[in-house]
Amino acid sequence: MSKTSGCCHNCINYVFEYETPKTLVIPAGCVGVFFRISQFLIVLYVVGYVCVVQKGYQETDSVISSVTTKVKGFAYTNTSDMEPRFWDVADYVIPPQGDNSFFVLTNLVVTPGQTQSRCPELPNPSSICVDDCDCIQGLNDPRGNGIRTGLCENYSTSVKTCEVISWCPIEVDTHLPKRALLAAAENFTVLIKNSITYPKFDVHRRNIPPHVNSSYLKRCEFSATDPDCPIFRLKHMVSEAGEDFEDMAVKGGILGILIDWSCDLDWWVGQAKCYPKYTFRRLDNKNPVNDVSPGYNFRFAKNYRTPAGEEERILIKAFGIRFNVIVFGTAGKFSIVVTIVNLGAALSFLSLLPLVADWVMVTLSKKRDLYSRHKTTYLNEEVGAESVSLATEYGTQ
Ligand SMILES: *[C@@H]1O[C@H](CO)[C@@H](O)[C@H](O)[C@H]1NC(C)=O
Ligand SMILES: *[C@@H]1O[C@H](CO)[C@@H](O)[C@H](O)[C@H]1NC(C)=O
Ligand SMILES: *[C@@H]1O[C@H](CO)[C@@H](O)[C@H](O)[C@H]1NC(C)=O
Repeated sequence: MSKTSGCCHNCINYVFEYETPKTLVIPAGCVGVFFRISQFLIVLYVVGYVCVVQKGYQETDSVISSVTTKVKGFAYTNTSDMEPRFWDVADYVIPPQGDNSFFVLTNLVVTPGQTQSRCPELPNPSSICVDDCDCIQGLNDPRGNGIRTGLCENYSTSVKTCEVISWCPIEVDTHLPKRALLAAAENFTVLIKNSITYPKFDVHRRNIPPHVNSSYLKRCEFSATDPDCPIFRLKHMVSEAGEDFEDMAVKGGILGILIDWSCDLDWWVGQAKCYPKYTFRRLDNKNPVNDVSPGYNFRFAKNYRTPAGEEERILIKAFGIRFNVIVFGTAGKFSIVVTIVNLGAALSFLSLLPLVADWVMVTLSKKRDLYSRHKTTYLNEEVGAESVSLATEYGTQ
């Protein structure tokens, strides 16, 4: 019974206790050095990183952009794979206009004169047969080229395969020209027109510099010496990305044209700090170790009717380089509200510092026993005596 009341007595004491921080001044020593160095580092972080590097005094907005492209160039091909042919932009840019990207045909496999008929499948383990029993009528293999008729036919003098209903003859795409048919595409040029807006700041820009006229655009070409010109030679873009055009043209690929519109709109920087910076990067995977399914290709067909009224088509498997124009960037402008919020957040580290310094003081410093004894003082009748003993201890050490 008496125990419980004693406990309760303590509880009541505890509830009505008042704690007030007391200042313990510690003479110059390791704790003081630690505290000042930490303060200095925090101020350095606020000034150097938050203000200078992160521009924590700026309000930001991200870019909205539109891109149009126009490729120019001609080529004349005369190789053993194909009859002599003249190429212009309507032949090699597919589709004629795209969404932030354009495709330039560089190599192709043409299968002319296909008609809707029956012919033997290309030889592969699942299509090679000995007699009709090996071919299931109506089988529709998505990896094959047609719907099986159930017959086993001569593919060549040495091999028989299952017959299919398909566009015949079936395309054989294993003989891709080793040197890209349209290697001349390396000298084609593209005009990229890019307009951007930062809606929050009502800033509008385009990548054609305001001081140039149309005669400049007729002769300029983007290079290290002319970084403002929006006309790019395809070969130059590919080599800036660290690739070889002739190599990439054989099996195709995807190249990123990255336009960085990062802008600093503060009045003290002036208008000069808002212009596009171009970089180029190959975007599809080109792994020399695992080179399965490399490059970029797709198929399309041109259908027509023969004079006899029969429907035929030319099937084209097109290899080429797709250029993706990627526009990114943020604009920043001084804002007092953002400045106060960021400064407050960064400086709040300073208020955490005494906690860390206290911890260093009572656990790591040489005189930790002395410091922890004086860290908390319980006020009682002998307070006078205690403060005397504190003073003597400091004096002797
Ligand atoms: C298929 O090939 C075999 C042997 O090569 C030949 O004897 C046969 O006549 C051919 N059949 C047809 C329909 O051409
Ligand atoms: C591209 O142009 C350069 C010089 O202008 C020329 O040396 C090169 O042969 C051209 N490339 C092709 C494939 O025609
Ligand atoms: C275009 O500007 C250049 C100087 O940058 C000038 O020499 C040329 O005459 C101008 N052409 C036209 C058509 O205004």
